[in-house]
Order: sequence, then C-alpha cells, then structure tokens
Amino acid sequence: MSLEFASPYYDHPFSPFTSTPPYLCQDLEPWLGCPFWMEPTDPRLIDIHNGEPAPTPPLENLEGMIHYWQENPEWMDFLNPNSPVHEDKLLERGLYLDFWGEYIQSNQRVLDIGGGVGRLAQVFWEYESEVQIVDPDLRSLWRNLTYSVGKKGSIDLHWGTIETLPDLGLFDLIVACEVFNYIENPTIGISNIHRSLKTDGILLFSVEARWGWAMSSDVPPDSLDAFLETGIVHVPHDRWIRTFTEKSIRTLLSDFEIIKIQPSHYSLSGPFELMIGEPNIKELLKTEDKLRNHPISNKLNRAWMVVARKR
Ligand SMILES: C[S@@+](CC[C@H](N)C(=O)[O-])C[C@H]1O[C@@H](n2cnc3c(N)ncnc32)[C@H](O)[C@@H]1O
Repeated sequence: MSLEFASPYYDHPFSPFTSTPPYLCQDLEPWLGCPFWMEPTDPRLIDIHNGEPAPTPPLENLEGMIHYWQENPEWMDFLNPNSPVHEDKLLERGLYLDFWGEYIQSNQRVLDIGGGVGRLAQVFWEYESEVQIVDPDLRSLWRNLTYSVGKKGSIDLHWGTIETLPDLGLFDLIVACEVFNYIENPTIGISNIHRSLKTDGILLFSVEARWGWAMSSDVPPDSLDAFLETGIVHVPHDRWIRTFTEKSIRTLLSDFEIIKIQPSHYSLSGPFELMIGEPNIKELLKTEDKLRNHPISNKLNRAWMVVARKR
C-alpha cells in the first residue's frame, strides 16, 4: 500500500494525500511527526506491530525492533542528532558511500528495501531522486516520512517485506543495506529485486558477514553453535540473523553481474571497534584498509558490500 491510502493511526490526526504518488518532500510539512496507518503487503505484520509474538524466527527481528522502539527509542531514531548512535550510524554510512558513491546519481528512481528510518534515502534526496521505501516496521516508516520533510526529492512508503513487494514499476537503482540477513526467503526477495530493476540497473547490497560478528561488542551469549555450525544468530523474540560468506552472496546474486564486492566493517561495529577510539571518516577508511589487507584480520569483516548490475 502507498501513502496515497494512508489513514489516521487511532486518534492521531493525519490528512489524507489528495494527489497521486510520489510526493514532493518539500510539500510534506503538514505530515511532520504524524503516525499513520496503511494496509501491509504481508498481513502477518499487523499482529507483530501490535505486540503479538512473530510466527517465524526471521520475523522475530521485528519483535525485537518493537521492543527497542518502546524501551530505547533514542537508539532506534538514530537520524536524530541527539541519538547516542547518531555519529556512528552516519560514519558507517560513510563506509557505504565510499564504496557505492559513484553509482548514486541525480534524478534516479530508487527503491530502498528495508529502508528503516531513512539513512540512505537522505542521500538519494540530496540528488533530487524519487525514493520508494519498503519496510516491515511501521514505526520506522513513520520516522522515515518525518525525516523526508523539506528534502529535495520525492517519496512514497510501503509497509511490507521484500518477499511481498508489489509492482512499483522499474527502478534505476535498488538498495538493500543490511537487510538480507533478516528475511525469511532470500531467493524470493532477490527475484523481486531483479524484476523491479531496469536492464543495466544497479543493486547496492550489504549484509552481515559469517565470522566477524562473533568478536564484536554486541555478540549474544550462547552463540557458539551459530559461529561453529549454523551461521544463524538467534536470540528468541529479539534477533535472527542469517550471516553470509562471499560464496553465498555470489550464489544469491547469480542472476546479476557482480561489479565489485568488498569485505567491510572490521572496526566500526566489528571485532576491532574497541581499538579505534573515535575516528573521522578518513581515519576509519584507512583503518579498514589496513585490516582488510592483513593476513589474520582480513577474514574478520563484520559486513560485505556489493555493487551488482542486472544483466
Ligand atoms: C539493520 S536495519 C537497516 C536499515 C537501513 N537499510 C539502513 O541501512 O539504515 C534492517 C531493516 O530491514 C528491515 N527488514 C527486516 N526484514 C525485512 C524483510 N523481510 N523485507 C524488507 N525489509 C526487512 C527492518 O525492518 C529494518 O528496517
């Protein structure tokens, strides 16, 4: 469903959109801070949003997110400069932009899968692009709309999963940043991306990697089997993370041409985080390079970054 059909959330005021999407961000001032309701593309999301347990382990991530929105909203709402993780999240974005930047151009039609509160969308709007955002967490979409207000491009939002992606037309660029770790059916997800890209369109993709998480500061207890055997980190009702090797990424993206793939996030969010202090982006990129090129540390990346093209 689109913002075109959004309605008030309980008794919160929400003026209906009277024109057709996408909507110019510069016209969105009346919707600043407004929560809204819309039909999800996956009906299971309604119960989860209302606090019911998730029906499958991968969807337990959404349970975890709802809990964090209630208990620690300042951590989730990280585009707010007062968030304790604001600087780190933007520094991490700097790592992505260093790798992806040359493929982000003006006036593109962009699909931001699992776009969250809008960390990447903010960049596309700088380039006056149209950004369609899909996410199964309605609370994230509320912030995403608010953070779009006054930006240069245009927006539409869809409450749903990549597996249930509706036909939104063809895109120049699709981004799935830190999303494929959480999805139930990556094969359906990737084929939905493939059908939504123009020929020669670009996919910017990142996922959590197989090994580096185990030495990071947020490693959960009782996860030795995940490290040694399954590669799936599961904390019931909180986290379910499928980790990826270079080989499993290449298999998933076999219908695409992989233009480049790079191990990343050795320091920030990775095993060497506590060693690096508070670097600026230049220092961070230098540290990442050193760790990527060292024979011991090079396998301990927390993430993979990819640029792929639809053939
Ligand atoms: C770690 S966050 C990344 C958010 C954003 N891409 C960024 O880089 O800031 C993961 C996001 O994936 C979304 N997500 C989880 N399962 C999904 C699914 N099946 N389809 C699409 N998005 C999903 C979550 O709601 C969340 O917003």
